[in-house]
Amino acid sequence: MTPQLAVADASALTFPPGFVWGAATASFQIEGAVHDHGRTPSIWDTFCREPGAVVNKDDGDVACDHVHRYREDVALMADLNLDAYRFSIAWPRVRPDGGAANPAGLDFYSRLVDSLLERGITPWPTLYHWDLPQALEDRGGWASRDTAARFAEYAVSVQEALGDRIGTWTTFNEPWCSAFLGYAGGQHAPGRQEPAAAVAAVHHLLLAHGLASEALRAGDPAAQVGITLNFTVADPADPGRPEDVDAARRIDAVHNRVFLDPVLHGRYHPDTVAAFASRGLELPVQDGDLETIGTGVDFIGVNYYHGDAFSTLAPEHPFQGADVERPTSSPMVGAEDVHAVPRGLPRTAMDWEVQPDGLRRLLERLHTEYTGPAGVVLYITENGAAFDDEVAADGSIEDLERTRYVEDHVRAVHAAIQAGADVRGYFAWSLLDNFEWAYGYAKRFGIVRVDFDTLERTPKLSALRYAEIARTGRVANGGSVPG
Ligand code: FCB
Repeated sequence: MTPQLAVADASALTFPPGFVWGAATASFQIEGAVHDHGRTPSIWDTFCREPGAVVNKDDGDVACDHVHRYREDVALMADLNLDAYRFSIAWPRVRPDGGAANPAGLDFYSRLVDSLLERGITPWPTLYHWDLPQALEDRGGWASRDTAARFAEYAVSVQEALGDRIGTWTTFNEPWCSAFLGYAGGQHAPGRQEPAAAVAAVHHLLLAHGLASEALRAGDPAAQVGITLNFTVADPADPGRPEDVDAARRIDAVHNRVFLDPVLHGRYHPDTVAAFASRGLELPVQDGDLETIGTGVDFIGVNYYHGDAFSTLAPEHPFQGADVERPTSSPMVGAEDVHAVPRGLPRTAMDWEVQPDGLRRLLERLHTEYTGPAGVVLYITENGAAFDDEVAADGSIEDLERTRYVEDHVRAVHAAIQAGADVRGYFAWSLLDNFEWAYGYAKRFGIVRVDFDTLERTPKLSALRYAEIARTGRVANGGSVPG
């Protein structure tokens, strides 16, 4: 069938002029070419080889082979009318082993940036999307303060190579995952399950953000610098039960406030400090650190997939994580007794509940409580969904659930803007099906399908619909996808 693409509906919702429509990826998830340019292993290359850590023993060796196919991928982005492309830079490609800058690795990103600019697509790089050089992990990783200084040096070398063409820098993607899934829960590389190391990692990731932000601004006073955080919207499962209200407050402290407060208010929130103290843990703050961390951002990148209802009572049927053999722990340091409780909402293939209104509430809260008063703007830097796609006999992929997910969330963004939140752009996660961390290639988030045997790319219905949203700056006011 040929989908009806144009938004002819006069009641369609219109976004402000200049609103940025983009799509996002990350280096380890799409690049492959793990030995090209003298790249050395990252913690994810190592973790993939750890028995039982990743579903199906998948790894990033080939992934989407983007390093060799980036021109084709940029052409695809142009076909999809994207204004901007959010990608990440692989630290072990541009500074192998975390050592000296590597011109061959930097040159790959330089060529990528040039081809984006040739197509009128704004390059939107993130400096760290989880692929720490393994050599730095061997020296303590994010639990070591020294890694923060190494990160700032790395940021400077990337800016020296690309800064003449890049105006907007994101330091980190989702430091929550790096600290808590990487060092406490063990679901992500480096797979450590040491709550004390996770709390140290929080502070060192933030310090790295602050040091790099200062260095990037010293290199280019006009640079726009920000950080991308992943948020939950924590509701009490039973608002009438004080333990559940408290559970939601504690999750907010160790998931959302833990990074928001130091970046935007220059201090750790008392609830966060108290949650860690309940485990006998303390953030390793030294004199001057909070001034560095609170140096100021121009934007906050918002990654939102789902909120949750929380309770101290375990649900009968808990949500399922990745089906891996390697044992893991709770990543919720200081709130290990809290459970996410299903609310009966529709779920994605990740077993995540679909709740677009959570995004509206999140954006309004961020604007009111954090970014608005600081004059900081918001971008949705990731939003999307994994579903089990079916390829029709003619090769098309009519991914109605993903299409509906994207449209519903785009409408939620529009509602937040109407309510006053200063949101300037939306990036779909993800441009391509890719390596979904511990889930390997089993979960597909792409608006473009990747056949992992042939590496062929095929835009799904969601991509075609999104291309229309990007072209027109408008989204149908509800009901364009049946279901
Ligand atoms: C986010 C990550 C991204 C992707 C999506 C589904 O947490 O930033 O790399 O895995 O989830």
